[in-house]
Amino acid sequence: MNAFKKTPFVLAASLAGALSLSSAHAAEVEVLHWWTSGGEARAANVLKELMEAEGYGWQDFAVAGGGGETAMTVLKSRAMSGNPPSAAQIKGPEIQEWGELGLLGELDGVAEAEGWDTLLPPTVADIMRHDGQYVAVPVNVHRVNWLWANPEVLEAAGVAMPTTLDELFAAGEAIREAGYVPLAHGGQAWQDATVFETVLLATAGTDFYRQALVELDPEALGSATMIEALETFKRLRTLMDDDMPGRDWNIATSMVINGDAAMQLMGDWAKGEFTAAGLTAGVDYLCAAAPGTQDAFTFNIDSLAMFRVEGEEREAQQALARLVLEPTFQEAFNKAKGSIPARPDLDMSEFDTCAQRSQEAFRQTAEQGGLVPSMAHGMAVRADVQGALFDVVTNYFNSPDLEAEEAARRMVNAAQAVL
Ligand code: GAL
Repeated sequence: MNAFKKTPFVLAASLAGALSLSSAHAAEVEVLHWWTSGGEARAANVLKELMEAEGYGWQDFAVAGGGGETAMTVLKSRAMSGNPPSAAQIKGPEIQEWGELGLLGELDGVAEAEGWDTLLPPTVADIMRHDGQYVAVPVNVHRVNWLWANPEVLEAAGVAMPTTLDELFAAGEAIREAGYVPLAHGGQAWQDATVFETVLLATAGTDFYRQALVELDPEALGSATMIEALETFKRLRTLMDDDMPGRDWNIATSMVINGDAAMQLMGDWAKGEFTAAGLTAGVDYLCAAAPGTQDAFTFNIDSLAMFRVEGEEREAQQALARLVLEPTFQEAFNKAKGSIPARPDLDMSEFDTCAQRSQEAFRQTAEQGGLVPSMAHGMAVRADVQGALFDVVTNYFNSPDLEAEEAARRMVNAAQAVL
């Protein structure tokens, strides 16, 4: 049958379909993000549902790839073709880079109406503004320096949760002897960098971390302390398994969930996977500050930056920004995502014990000076510097013959080349 020859009923039905489609599409947002693992997708869905409940359409622009490198490449090509999405998961100093290109739209109306200036801690609010105007909204605060563990595997190996790097290596040996992978890891540049920055923090403390990975001080980058941290970092390979190259972070988490591996050093998006698997914090899985980093909190704040859009799309975009900081979203999203709310005024009693500890650690370290931005997660330096550091870290970690001294030298060069 000719596809165009439709009965009046079919025609009317498809017309109605087209009409309702076009009205649903009239005010909609397209949102780019990389929340594609089990826990992340559950979290992202909260925002989609809240937007739809207010009558707005949601165009999901999910680009898989932990750490968001692929998502950022796709975003750049969309923006270059003059067709950016309404909002995108852009974080830290990179928000300034997009702002400087003149591509971001402001949210000052929503921010004022909702009192963002009083709701948000200054550390968080500052990141969201470009040229004094809000151009992004924070969805959460992730802590990066966590250790996750399967208590049954620890017990089978007769070890407790390690609190220092020495204890981690000792426990690792016992776990290996008991027949398990001590440390689940995925060999991808951003995961290598995540573990590296945590080891650096444990080895050298927060002041040194800042000098090296935030201020890019060549003396710190090339120092004996850096060389020691690099060596310890590489030694962690002895706790990992041979199948790690290319493995996604959530697959590494599932090794801990399934009891194939004992532990994982990863930010608390890993908790989203434990939660999605129906597990209970403190019972079915354990969380602790990464060994040697008890007094520090490496923060990674996810945010949605808003592109300059007009008309109904802008209306929908402003609604999105408003919803993101409302308690309903902050609570539901962060419970699924593993993070804590971006606004500190919410009741945390319904959150799991790891989230409660994270919030307490955030408050304490903010007071005592232990709060540091994550280099691996785009909070410390601009994207070009981050990329150059990733290259050094991952090449060093994956090249048996590359010495720590040489890697430290390359780090100095990498930071200088892009300054
Ligand atoms: C981080 C991001 C988190 C999580 C993680 C793994 O950079 O902030 O939200 O998605 O990557 O993809």
